[in-house]
Amino acid sequence: MSDSPSSATASSPRRALVTGAAGFIGSHLAHALLQTGTTVIGVDRRDPARDQTAAANMAPLRGLPGYMHITADLLTCAIDPLLIDADVIFHLAGIPGVRPSWGPQFGEYVNSNILATQRLMDAATRMRVPRLVVASSSSVYGPTNGGPSVEGDHPRPASPYAVTKLAEEQLCLAHASRADYPTSVIALRYFTVYGPRQRPDMFTHRALHAAMTGQPLRLYGDGHQRRDFTYIDDAVAATISAAGAPIYTGIVNVGGGANASLIDVINIANNLVGREIQIHADNARNGDVQTTRADPRRAQAVLGWQPTVDLPTGMRAQMRALTQPSYRTAA
Ligand code: NAD
Ligand code: UGA
Repeated sequence: MSDSPSSATASSPRRALVTGAAGFIGSHLAHALLQTGTTVIGVDRRDPARDQTAAANMAPLRGLPGYMHITADLLTCAIDPLLIDADVIFHLAGIPGVRPSWGPQFGEYVNSNILATQRLMDAATRMRVPRLVVASSSSVYGPTNGGPSVEGDHPRPASPYAVTKLAEEQLCLAHASRADYPTSVIALRYFTVYGPRQRPDMFTHRALHAAMTGQPLRLYGDGHQRRDFTYIDDAVAATISAAGAPIYTGIVNVGGGANASLIDVINIANNLVGREIQIHADNARNGDVQTTRADPRRAQAVLGWQPTVDLPTGMRAQMRALTQPSYRTAA
C-alpha cells in the first residue's frame, strides 16, 4: 500500500457500479459517467417509484442508454452480481448529515456507513474489482486551527456521523492493505458539496429556499462558520479522475477552494434573489466545526484535478435549478 502522491491523468472506466445513485452526488456522478460512455449500474435503497427525492434526483438518468438501476439495500442484497465485469466501484451510498447523527438514527449510520461498506469490500474482493473510490468526508478532521487540513493530519471526528465516515474510509483502506487484496482504494474527503439537487437539509439549499420563498432561515450559531464549499460538477470531476488515477491507494481531499462563511452564503443568496433573508437565530449545534479547509496539493498531484467553479457561480446554478419543477423545492 502506498499513500504517496504520483501524477495522474484521468480516463473514464468502461463499466462502473455507483452506489447511492438515487442520492445527490451519486445521481450527478452516474449522469456524468454516462456522458463519457461508461456503462453504469446504479444501486440505492430508496425506490424512485415511491420516494420523491430519489425520483427528482434520478429524472435526468431516465431512459439514458447504458444505465441500469437496482433498488436494493447494500446491507442485505446480493452484491456480487452487480460487480460482474466492473472496472470500478464508486461507493457513494451512506447516511450523510452531521447533526441528526446524535439522535436515535445512529444505528442507521452504522448500518449503512460501516456494515454495508464491509459487505461491499468483501464482494469487491471476491469479484476482483480493480478500483474502489469511496466517499469520505471533511468532517473526519474535526476542529482545526483554521488552516488547511492535510490528508496526513490526525483525525479528530467531532460527531457520531464523522466517526462512522472515518471508520468507513479506514475500513476500505484496511482491506486494500491486505497482501492478497485485488482492489486499490481511493478515499475522497469531500468538503460540503453544493449545487443543483443538493440535499434539502444542507445550508446552501436552505439559504436559497429562504431567499426565494421569504420563509425564515434558521441559523445555527453566529454564521461565522466557514466551509470549503465544493460545487457538484467539480466534486464529480474529481471522483471520475480518481477512477483513472494510476495505482494509488490512500486519501485525497476534494475541496472547492471557497473558504466562505455562512454569512457570505446568505449575502450571495440575497443578491441572487434580490430579497433579504429573514434570519431566525438558533444555538450552535454539537459536532459542527468552525472551519473546514482543504489542502489542495494531493488532489492536484494524484488526480490532476482542481476546482473550477466559484461560490457565486455555483449558487446561481443551484438557484436556477430550484426554479425547475422537476427539482425539489421543499426545505
Ligand atoms: P444522499 O443522501 O443524497 O445520497 C446517499 C444515498 O445513499 C441515498 O440515496 C440513500 O438512499 C443511499 N443509501 C444509504 N444507505 C444505503 C444502503 N444501505 N444501501 C443502498 N443505498 C443506500 O447524500 P449525498 O449528499 O449525495 O452524499 C453521498 C455520500 O457522500 C455519502 O456517503 C456522504 O457521507 C458523502 N459526503 C457528502 C458530502 C456532501 O456535502 N453532500 C460531503 C462529504 C461526504
Ligand atoms: C456537509 C454534509 O451535510 C455532510 O454530509 C458532509 O459530510 C460534510 O458536509 C462534509 O464536508 O464532510 P456540513 O458542513 O455540516 O456537512 O454542511 P451543512 O449541512 O450545509 O451545514 C453547514 C453549516 O450551516 C453548519 O455550521 C450548520 O450548522 C449550518 N446550518 C445548516 C444552519 O445554520 N442552518 C441550517 O438550516 C442548516
